[in-house]
Amino acid sequence: MNRRQFLGRSAVLASAVTYAGAVPAQSRAAGKAPGLIDVELEARDSWQSLAGRSAYLSTFNDRCPGPIIEARAGDTIRIQFRNALSEETNLHYHGLHISPAGVADNSFLMIPPTESVTYELNIPDNHPSGMFWYHPHMHGTVARQVSRGLAGIILVRGDFDDLPEVRATPEKLMVFQDFDLGADGQLIEPSLMQRTQGREGPLVTINGLSNPTSSSLVCGGWTRLRLLNASVSRFYRLQLESHAFTVVGTDGGLMSSPIETNEILLVPGQRCDVFVWGAQPSGSFRLLNLPYNRFGAMGGGMGAFRKPPAIEPSVLATFAYGDSVPQSWTMPQRLASVEALSAPERSRSFSFNMSTGMGMSGGGLTINGRSFDPNRVDTQVPLDSIEDWNLVNTSTMDHPFHIHTNPFQVIGAGAAVERAWRDVVLVPAGRTVKIRLRFSDYVGKAMYHCHILDHEDLGMMGIIEVV
Ligand code: C2O
Ligand code: CU
Ligand code: CU
Repeated sequence: MNRRQFLGRSAVLASAVTYAGAVPAQSRAAGKAPGLIDVELEARDSWQSLAGRSAYLSTFNDRCPGPIIEARAGDTIRIQFRNALSEETNLHYHGLHISPAGVADNSFLMIPPTESVTYELNIPDNHPSGMFWYHPHMHGTVARQVSRGLAGIILVRGDFDDLPEVRATPEKLMVFQDFDLGADGQLIEPSLMQRTQGREGPLVTINGLSNPTSSSLVCGGWTRLRLLNASVSRFYRLQLESHAFTVVGTDGGLMSSPIETNEILLVPGQRCDVFVWGAQPSGSFRLLNLPYNRFGAMGGGMGAFRKPPAIEPSVLATFAYGDSVPQSWTMPQRLASVEALSAPERSRSFSFNMSTGMGMSGGGLTINGRSFDPNRVDTQVPLDSIEDWNLVNTSTMDHPFHIHTNPFQVIGAGAAVERAWRDVVLVPAGRTVKIRLRFSDYVGKAMYHCHILDHEDLGMMGIIEVV
């Protein structure tokens, strides 16, 4: 296939679904037999318009964020991937419960420049619907490649999406990214100190736009917002002026029942599925990013790593009411059956730390005192077992924990288990978070790590093998 065909066919896929508004049915229609979804992706550097400026980014099919891939449980997604970057890369399918082996969600693969590979992702029949994503996972350069723009959404559609009232609700997909863009349009590489803290770019974008305006809110009706934090390190503490959020889904799909809140903390890698009820008569409303300090309760820790927290909220987007027809439905109180995992067969502890002398060698970010080694299995678990993991943060900055292949449930105060599937959970500085996991369906090796991707690159990652 020549290059023109390659890009031409990809462009068709990309234009079927847009980030801007409601998502048309590019995917297989409800009730039809499972299908094969063919996707062509090419990672390449190119000039893009970013927040109204010219920027030299890394893209999938010349898009930042990359094209949206839509599927349903039971489908196979076949991705013909070509690496047109000038360095090795690969793809990880964050949050999908698919095989970590072979040419599927295998983050050990390394694809040299100019080479191609065909990924085959078999989505099980009982896979939850939800929003997942793809991004490179080359250890050592994950943060840089993702910070250059390489990220895209994978939507798995299901019964909830097929409800007539949900189909009639405007849906907006929002990918949060941040960039450190120089005057010449080139991205600025962070210092080792910035990487140790986790790089944050001052230019914050949603779907490549700075403070976009949208008139997608429905006056007297629902609007569905599906949020992805694709930033390397930046946290978003979101609030929408004069509106509450009705959260229906977490990373791994629908929760058992909706939760109403005025604020959402979205840490790197996380997704959130929320509905907003247009309760005001008219007006325009800012989506705010409230201050959050991810460097410990005292705002510091060791002097060199102290970073003054932001004091003022910043504006991420502006929403106004559009002309969509009002809807009268109420959100069901039961959204999905999220099963309760039975008692664990064993417990383990993982301690997230930064050793002294860090920042000098570029190492020093560890799990249980060890830095990532691709040739070492850190944790071995039997297939189908259930475990409780204590995630202990003994450092002075927050670490969002993430694991591949199998999602988990968070155990809260009083041992109550959250009826929701997550694959990223924030472990705040100096605190311990407990989760319950089940290792289902797939044997093989995969990773768990801090999703501040600079921390992952600097060693805060381990290998789990399901046997
Ligand atoms: Cu989104 Cu191993 O990462
Ligand atoms: Cu992942
Ligand atoms: Cu971290």
